[in-house]
Amino acid sequence: MTRTVIRGGLVITAAEEGYADVLVEDGKVAALATPDSAFAGGWTADRTIDATGKYVIPGGVDAHTHFDLPFGGTASSDTFETGTRAAAWGGTTTVVDFAVQSRGRALREGLDTWHAKSQGTCAIDYAFHMILSDVNDASLKEMDLLVGEGVTSFKLFMAYPGVFYSDDGQILRAMQHAAGNGGLIMMHAENGIAIDVLVEQALAAGRTDPRYHGEVRKALLEAEATHRAIQLARVAGSPLYVVHVSAEEAVAELARARGMDLPVFGETCPQYLFLSTDNLAEPGFEGAKYVCSTPLRPREHQAALWRGLRTDDLQVVSTDHCPFCFSGQKDLGRGDFSKIPNGLPGVENRMDLLHQAVVDGHISRRRWIEIACAAPARMFGLAPHKGTITPGGDADIVVYDPNAQQTLSAETHHMNVDYSAYEGKTVSGRVETVLSRGEPVIDKREFVGRAGHGRFTPRSTCQYLN
Ligand code: URP
Ligand code: ZN
Ligand code: ZN
Ligand code: ZN
Repeated sequence: MTRTVIRGGLVITAAEEGYADVLVEDGKVAALATPDSAFAGGWTADRTIDATGKYVIPGGVDAHTHFDLPFGGTASSDTFETGTRAAAWGGTTTVVDFAVQSRGRALREGLDTWHAKSQGTCAIDYAFHMILSDVNDASLKEMDLLVGEGVTSFKLFMAYPGVFYSDDGQILRAMQHAAGNGGLIMMHAENGIAIDVLVEQALAAGRTDPRYHGEVRKALLEAEATHRAIQLARVAGSPLYVVHVSAEEAVAELARARGMDLPVFGETCPQYLFLSTDNLAEPGFEGAKYVCSTPLRPREHQAALWRGLRTDDLQVVSTDHCPFCFSGQKDLGRGDFSKIPNGLPGVENRMDLLHQAVVDGHISRRRWIEIACAAPARMFGLAPHKGTITPGGDADIVVYDPNAQQTLSAETHHMNVDYSAYEGKTVSGRVETVLSRGEPVIDKREFVGRAGHGRFTPRSTCQYLN
């Protein structure tokens, strides 16, 4: 039995903060000792980590990643091995990735494929949501089996007709089924049918540059789809989690629903909080680096997102990490923005960017931990093992130096992608040491982890309503 003590740091959870030593035994948090307790400074251990002047926080839970995702005629450039390693570098110790049901195929086949991609390769723990791209009697039945195996959330798309798209009838049926089996429906809320008309019209008029990706995927079409998803969930009697919310008008739909006490939840991502259509308009095809869906919005939308995160109209910040190299992958869309593979890298940057949001005064320290660790763990059935530091919980712990400065750059990041969406941005705060179930993965800014340490983590159903 290995004993580790993390001494002298400021322990921050979503619920409270205070100075304490943390005792880790056998991969779990065994006890916390505040400075006035009889145990303070007294524990002996095999390994002592000095956290004086540092924060001791739960490992991040990134509930939205796409490693090795076939999409847009290519595949996202981080594998489970490179992606989970980069996540650890950024202070994230659990990812929930999306297994994909292909059209006409079984959920089982998709889930098996994602198990095969990830098994034995991950540096940190991982779990799966399932993307439903073909809602029919057979896939509805299979949802029940997956819930029993710890795959308890299902993403549906109102966008991407002909690829992942589900019509309203399919969405309603999936929601009705989820209402019965405890599954959580996650929605990509954009009116893809209308967007495809605008795409066609833009291309016919010669508007082919990356910035038109942002212009055709209108905020109103995100808000409309969000509204429709909420009404369908009400009819079905199911909770709803809207992914990658970027538009102020969509936040308003969520706020209105929550004001009616409906079990409706929302996620946003760092790219919508820190980047904007100004990036999409960068000259010389540089804008392709910032093509994702929902798209980046004009800067004015950011205030509503920050407000939503403070008022709890938005509960979670995850990355939607879906990297494609600028050279060779984003290139596929030169001369036609609709062929640029959709997605941004960010799994390594999320905890730091949100700490910068604390420094900038957008959110409190505890809210940082709530939206990045505790809320995603509760939302997706990973609590109480993940997302907090509590006796009996997994010792997924980050020692974070709030005073270190760093400049984000592709030169120094660990994600397998040839650019950074935040190139040159300086932030305060940096991960120093990361434990995953008590095992060091990052030790004083050195990777000491191992592919295969990370385990598939079956999840219970959404704990957010308890
Ligand atoms: O642009 C994005 N978000 N790519 C990943 C797929 C998705 O819709 O989440
Ligand atoms: Zn069933
Ligand atoms: Zn999506
Ligand atoms: Zn996504």
